[in-house]
Amino acid sequence: MEYKRYTITSALPYANGPLHIGHIAGAYLPADLYVRYLRLRGRDVVWVCGSDEHGAAITLRAKKEGISPREIIDRYHTLNQETFARFGISFDYYHRTSEPLHHETSQGFFTTLYEKGEFIEQTTEQFFDEEYQQFLADRYVMGTCPVCSYEAAYGDQCEKCGSSLNPTDLINPVSTLSGKTPVLRETRHWYLPLDKYQPWLEEWLLEGKKGIWKNNVYGQCSSWLKAGLQPRSMTRDLDWGVDVPLPDTEGKKLYVWLDAPIGYVSSTRQWALENGKDWELYWKEQADPADNSRLIHFIGKDNIVFHCIIFPAILHTHGGYLVPDNVPANEFLNLEGDKMSTSRNYAVWLHEFLDEFPGKEDVLRYALCAIMPENKDADFTWKDFQARNNNELAAILGNFVNRVMVLTNKFFDGVVPEPVGIREHTSAIAAYQEVQGHIAKIEEALENFRFRDAQAEFINIARVGNRFLTEQEPWKKIKTDPEAVKPVMWSCLEIIGAIATLSKIFLPFTAPRIFDLLQLDPERYTWDHAAGKAGDGFLVPPGHQIKTGKNLPVLFEQIPDEVIQVQLDKLAATHAPASEGSAWPPVKEEISFDDFQKMDIRIGTILEAQKVPKADKLLQFKVDTGVDVRTIVSGVAKYFAPEDLVGKQVPVLINLAPRKIRGVVSQGMILFAEGSDGHLYRMSPAQETESGAAVN
Ligand code: MF3
Ligand code: ZN
Repeated sequence: MEYKRYTITSALPYANGPLHIGHIAGAYLPADLYVRYLRLRGRDVVWVCGSDEHGAAITLRAKKEGISPREIIDRYHTLNQETFARFGISFDYYHRTSEPLHHETSQGFFTTLYEKGEFIEQTTEQFFDEEYQQFLADRYVMGTCPVCSYEAAYGDQCEKCGSSLNPTDLINPVSTLSGKTPVLRETRHWYLPLDKYQPWLEEWLLEGKKGIWKNNVYGQCSSWLKAGLQPRSMTRDLDWGVDVPLPDTEGKKLYVWLDAPIGYVSSTRQWALENGKDWELYWKEQADPADNSRLIHFIGKDNIVFHCIIFPAILHTHGGYLVPDNVPANEFLNLEGDKMSTSRNYAVWLHEFLDEFPGKEDVLRYALCAIMPENKDADFTWKDFQARNNNELAAILGNFVNRVMVLTNKFFDGVVPEPVGIREHTSAIAAYQEVQGHIAKIEEALENFRFRDAQAEFINIARVGNRFLTEQEPWKKIKTDPEAVKPVMWSCLEIIGAIATLSKIFLPFTAPRIFDLLQLDPERYTWDHAAGKAGDGFLVPPGHQIKTGKNLPVLFEQIPDEVIQVQLDKLAATHAPASEGSAWPPVKEEISFDDFQKMDIRIGTILEAQKVPKADKLLQFKVDTGVDVRTIVSGVAKYFAPEDLVGKQVPVLINLAPRKIRGVVSQGMILFAEGSDGHLYRMSPAQETESGAAVN
């Protein structure tokens, strides 16, 4: 379906650190692909982003480094804006939430809601750091999670169990500023009654977006709504942020989640100012709903509730504003099997990639799109990056373009041949139809935010070209029937014309290089040209001179193993376990507290132990687990004599599914410590303990 206009946003990154590939795969690359597609179709679109320059993450970092928040945001705003541009992330505008226009816009929202009487004004007791003479919002307090007992939970959220918290929920709260226990003090704040908007949210989102929004997004929203929404404070006691626009509110700022998403509106306003546009067409409801813009938020999964529940509630309550039509949030990207981490410096930083791999922007874009975490978390590996380049971009796409260029030069001196007899050329027609089939699938996939599928269909076009060329064997035909070669080479050049045009979406750095090979103007070619609907003739006109010469540029060079090894070594260095060069297995994938709690480990006492006949590695035990006496088989015969274990206490995993080992049913697992050489050591409680005692 075609909309009148498109308003596209990508999450404003915090200006407190550089961008890594996880950010890119989450909220920026998919949006860039979508927007490039819309532009190629000539749609009216604005894509806005900018730096999120408020929030505790920034002020805390400034405090720790002993510098001002201003220094931090200036540094990272500049770095991130440049890095996005170098990577071809083609925002129409990249604004900053520290700009006066943004302060004015977000204050305008607050004032409207205030004047409508939406806020509940409430005085409550909140934590106060006496040493720093400051109230402690959100991340300024840490303590033990009341839900899961994790000791380093933040005041707004426990990162272990995911519970959303208030600072006063924490057990043993500690100020992250002074490290001391904070005191409670009264303070006044303005709460948005999200519970009041629950019925509207249920209708608009739960009913209206069912089966339309991605499952991962819809599911998260529906569990929030099912749990029931609570009023949420829209102000904070802070010294950095947007001032609350009310009298006698010194030291009070807008909550960053009221401030940041409104940054999309400010960014659009600034873009409009500088480009002679009307921003309201992109954000406001129009008299005829058919004239409304389509609002789409691209974000990562950690921002789902804010963009699907809180921000829409604000927009709706304000009135006159559009609410998002879709929020195609992505899941997370891991790196070589581990979570990326800014604090451990475990990531592929985009600005470093751009420095180390000049000219390979499209390879990274392609590799990230191929594994984009659209529906579940995904894993970036350097080997996959290399394989995508070598086996797909170079071996399929680059190879096809190169073969056709070389052959056209050889057979026709680089002049596009007439497509003689093309209407009767059934294989050429079949190849063309196949290409159009892939283009139709690209359209369908992009319209529905399935970027991986879209890109796979794109590379399939080059596959069709390669197959057609191989089947037709023009290098043989040229000797026997040179006329018959003309429609074949012409068809191949048309396929390259389509690839070049679609590269403006998928490979924006490569597209002008392909057009240069074809000696055509990239600006002229639109989606309709590729889709055979432009109606002004062929993509690559007969008689046209393409690039000639002995050394035509190769689109994608092979990436050798050494280059990949450098990156793997670099990661290993940042990620190395405490003991250098140790043989310890890598840290396993993170599990939730719930996952851990599923294991039932008890102290058991070994009553009997014996060898398992004809199985020299195994011992068979009778163990008193406190709840029962059961048989357990373990592969430990190499390290223990059976008689040495009788009477010993050991930890036993008692809810492991029974397994048959050499004919004996083992009902659980005795836990041993394994040395780096594989040697097993017995573990026992330091004091005699009752059988059945839980280990947790
Ligand atoms: N800066 C925050 C983050 O990166 C929020 C970005 S989304 C916005 O998680 F809507 F607030 F801008
Ligand atoms: Zn918790």
